[in-house]
Amino acid sequence: MASGSVFPLSFSTMGDSSAPAPGPDAGSAAGSAGDLTGKRAVVTGAGSGIGAAVARRLAATGATVVAVDHAAAEVRAVAAEIGGHPLVMDLSDPETAAAAGEGADIVVNNAGMQHVAPVHRFPPDVFSRLLTVMVESPFRIIRAALPTMYARSWGRIVNVSSVHGLRASPLKSAYVTAKHGLEGLSKTVALEAAGYGVTSNCICPGYVRTPLVEQQVADHATLHRVPREQVIEDVLLARTAVKRLVEPDEVAELAAWLCGPASSSVTGASFPMDGGWGAH
Ligand SMILES: NC(=O)c1ccc[n+]([C@@H]2O[C@H](COP(=O)([O-])OP(=O)(O)OC[C@H]3O[C@@H](n4cnc5c(N)ncnc54)[C@H](O)[C@@H]3O)[C@@H](O)[C@H]2O)c1
Repeated sequence: MASGSVFPLSFSTMGDSSAPAPGPDAGSAAGSAGDLTGKRAVVTGAGSGIGAAVARRLAATGATVVAVDHAAAEVRAVAAEIGGHPLVMDLSDPETAAAAGEGADIVVNNAGMQHVAPVHRFPPDVFSRLLTVMVESPFRIIRAALPTMYARSWGRIVNVSSVHGLRASPLKSAYVTAKHGLEGLSKTVALEAAGYGVTSNCICPGYVRTPLVEQQVADHATLHRVPREQVIEDVLLARTAVKRLVEPDEVAELAAWLCGPASSSVTGASFPMDGGWGAH
């Protein structure tokens, strides 16, 4: 899957269609990651959406990117585009996942998925799978990466959490539980690793314009028998002051900053990028 113009209607219905394309000021932010030449950056879920954007951004700084995903064709395409290395891997197997972290200077735990259902009807196997992919495998990858980071006295761990790492929404029990778990893991690693020059932080986006959101919209529309456009306006952007979806490149820019020289004293933190959702 590749990100694209998933929600053009949402922009026009908000009266925002003539606004400049959203995204970071590439000119002023270009150097935020510094020069990562020689660094090995492992990015999970790099075949699509936010992960692909992060992989592209880190590669642009000189990092050697290992692009991890179970979507083989997609991750190979991204890796080829950026001169990185594809690693086709199913992160629902934590034993396998550990191998992705070995030798990494930078880990971006980003792979994830969503399932929408009330708790009393939530399939237990799906709950378990979400927690494995979004908490246990990140733990395994970090666990495998830390010895090398400690030996080199430098490392960056960026966990792509969510606004749902900080607050709940109905129907997303596995996702909210997993993201809260990832937040706890990130902070614990931050405390243990600080003395070794290794930082660990979370990024907490609101709704980002990616295929994962497209799927959520479809699921919600089916569950509640409402039109897709109504889900976007009434559900996704209802609590968001900035009335547009976040762009994957904006998340990638923050990830790059968290890997760069200006953020070396930033650790154990969680950065909302939610258009003001959390201000309510
Ligand atoms: N899109 C949003 O609105 C949003 C908001 C907040 C947080 N996030 C988080 O950002 C991350 C990326 O989401 P996205 O929106 O880019 O989604 P996406 O669906 O576009 O990309 C997710 C990628 O993860 C990969 N993946 C899923 N399960 C995997 C597995 N078992 N093994 C290996 N790879 C696997 C998929 O193949 C896909 O390439 C997720 O952790 C998600 O929770 C997304």
